[in-house]
Amino acid sequence: MIKKGIILAGGLGSRMSPITKSVNKQLLPIYDKPLIYYPLSVLMLAGIKEVLIIVNRGQVSQFKKILKNGENFGIKIQYKEQKQPNGLPEAFIIGEKFIDKNGVALILGDNFFYAQSLTKTLQNATKLKNGAKVFLHPVSNPKLYGIASIKNKKIVSLKEKPTSTNSNLAVTGLYFFDKNVVSISKTLKPSKRKELEIIDLLNIYRKKNRLSAEFLGRGGAWLDAGSIDDYYDTTSFVSAIQKRQGFKIACLEEIALTKKWINKNTLKESIKFYGNCDYSKYLRRLLF
Ligand code: G1P
Repeated sequence: MIKKGIILAGGLGSRMSPITKSVNKQLLPIYDKPLIYYPLSVLMLAGIKEVLIIVNRGQVSQFKKILKNGENFGIKIQYKEQKQPNGLPEAFIIGEKFIDKNGVALILGDNFFYAQSLTKTLQNATKLKNGAKVFLHPVSNPKLYGIASIKNKKIVSLKEKPTSTNSNLAVTGLYFFDKNVVSISKTLKPSKRKELEIIDLLNIYRKKNRLSAEFLGRGGAWLDAGSIDDYYDTTSFVSAIQKRQGFKIACLEEIALTKKWINKNTLKESIKFYGNCDYSKYLRRLLF
């Protein structure tokens, strides 16, 4: 059972400059909470209580200010710095000591997931024993993502940002790996864009017949809040769903309370910590 997860929350956020010049993108708001809450909620829904957050050099204190060591959410958060963005698989090299024999989940700090039965799908993924698992979702612009071609539900090819392809299935920024991911990542060579590529890593698993795919399903939403437009689309999505249904997406305290990882006293602490705001009002409702 995979019990640990990494959030890669580094990166320069260059596509969102000047907004991201002085602030880490993952701390900017998606509607009513910082972007990092959303990928963290995905790990928590998967049942993962031990989290490593990888951030840019000098930014640990900013993240700690809001997430602390995870005690408000009944989880344990550690932090590590990435000196410069050298590609996604570097997360496994930086996280070598954190990763145990059960393997690890990786989620990108700017990825947003919302889908029917997501919790069940995620909990199933943590049962992975050998190999790697990816989550695929259709996109209208395949040139921007890692793209998988499928035959009989099996991945037959994987390409990073293909200039031409017959497939529209993007490899989303959520991955589950067995413990071999560390040693395999160390064998990767930088690509043309001078980064270690997650697609190269996944291709190694695929060639060994050790790569499986999950689908978020047609009613699911996956957004990568990496560009200005996608960022605002994600905010609009969250705002529309929350206003209509009256519950919050990615309320970390609510997830923790439902899972009995925290009690109502811890929730009261959080309300005090956040102060008088709409988010606290929502938390207060959970006390009764
Ligand atoms: C990265 C991965 C790509 C994946 C995407 C998901 O792209 O390289 O395979 O589809 O994340 O968000 P990048 O953010 O480097 O453009």
